[in-house]
Amino acid sequence: MLRAVLAMVAVLSFVLFPYSGQAATITTLKSLKLDVPTSDAMFPAGPGSDAINNNCLACHSADHVLNQPSLSREAWQEVVSKMITAYKAPVSPDDVKAIVDYLVRIKGAS
Ligand code: HEC
Repeated sequence: MLRAVLAMVAVLSFVLFPYSGQAATITTLKSLKLDVPTSDAMFPAGPGSDAINNNCLACHSADHVLNQPSLSREAWQEVVSKMITAYKAPVSPDDVKAIVDYLVRIKGAS
């Protein structure tokens, strides 16, 4: 009788926990190493680059700005104002002049 009960328990434990010996394989994780190219997406370093990198990369890439035609100071001032008023760019007012100066220096047209 005892043997029959033990045999039942043995069979039941197989039926109820068929994968109990394999739990370790289910939780095995692989780590991946990704190199995310961030530096290319920034504005080139120079006076004012901190200001423009901090304020102008939330919605589009630096390339989106750098691929525009060269503009006069007034036109760059207008672009920055448009970003702030039309697109609600959260640009700190203290940085606006540094940003416009930067744009005029690298993409200015007289
Ligand atoms: C809140 C989001 C946002 C931020 C922050 C932002 N922009 Fe833009 N920007 C846009 C949108 C939207 C467009 C239009 C997208 C398009 O042309 O496909 C745009 C387009 C531009 C263009 C293309 C020319 C044009 O007039 O459309 C330039 C240049 C530009 N942004 C410069 C800047 C500069 C400089 C800053 C930092 C002062 C800035 N952006 C910050 C949203 C933003």
